[in-house]
Amino acid sequence: MRLKNKIAIITGAGSGIGRAIALSFIKEGAKLVIADWSEKGGEETIKLIKKLKGEAVFIKTDVSKSKDIEQMANTCLKKFGRVDILVNNAGIVRFGALHETLESDWDLVLNVNLKSVFLASKKIIPQMLKQSKGKIINMASIAGLVGFAQIGAYCASKGGIITLTKEMAVEYAPKKINVNCICPGVIKTAMTKDMISDPATKKGFETQTPYPRLGEPEDIAHAAVYLASDESDFVNGEALAIDGGWLAK
Ligand SMILES: NC(=O)c1ccc[n+]([C@@H]2O[C@H](COP(=O)([O-])OP(=O)(O)OC[C@H]3O[C@@H](n4cnc5c(N)ncnc54)[C@H](O)[C@@H]3O)[C@@H](O)[C@H]2O)c1
Repeated sequence: MRLKNKIAIITGAGSGIGRAIALSFIKEGAKLVIADWSEKGGEETIKLIKKLKGEAVFIKTDVSKSKDIEQMANTCLKKFGRVDILVNNAGIVRFGALHETLESDWDLVLNVNLKSVFLASKKIIPQMLKQSKGKIINMASIAGLVGFAQIGAYCASKGGIITLTKEMAVEYAPKKINVNCICPGVIKTAMTKDMISDPATKKGFETQTPYPRLGEPEDIAHAAVYLASDESDFVNGEALAIDGGWLAK
């Protein structure tokens, strides 16, 4: 088992990629705090974890609110006494031309996707410093590396996550805290469901993806297990694209 008895907090684990990471971590022996603003999603993930005889607790959390982040961290410390792994995965997208984007939508996307990484890391890093070890995995996107029309706030938030990841890696590598991010391509989750159910959009995604299928949440979970494990101790500030070759073209 690659994460035996490690304690991990995973945000946005009530669905999609976060849930797949949670189940993979459980199979590798970790114990979890599942943080999501959806109670239904969070409880469903807990049910799936129980089926695997894993140990996890759900805490309803809006990752853009520092008070909620504080509760999330306290829940973890009270229950498990430490935090070995933080996965900043929760995220949202809003569609539309940049010049028509509402200021409130811009703020929402930036707060949920990017500010949350700052808030959770700020809260958890002191504990990792005490432990002299830790792993932080941030969920970015290939949309943080290249432009995609109609999702300006999302692109900006994901680009911000990639640069923040590098800043944190440089700052905390000397303290044996690894900070890396993953840049998924198109992955089949609730976030992409509507787009993929449109045949023309799906075809467009498939054309852009050299590997002959779209991504599954488990494609990302495998990488998260590696980045959370001791195997990746010498990996710092990496933005790992898992995109079936989308960006390689
Ligand atoms: N699906 C893709 O193709 C894709 C591609 C690149 C990056 N990503 C990123 O992967 C991450 C997971 O997305 P997904 O595809 O699994 O989507 P998803 O919609 O299935 O899951 C997102 C989860 O985050 C939760 N969430 C949203 N806002 C929250 C908040 N404020 N506080 C707490 N929880 C919140 C949702 O309730 C949900 O459970 C996101 O950061 C997303 O940007 C996804």
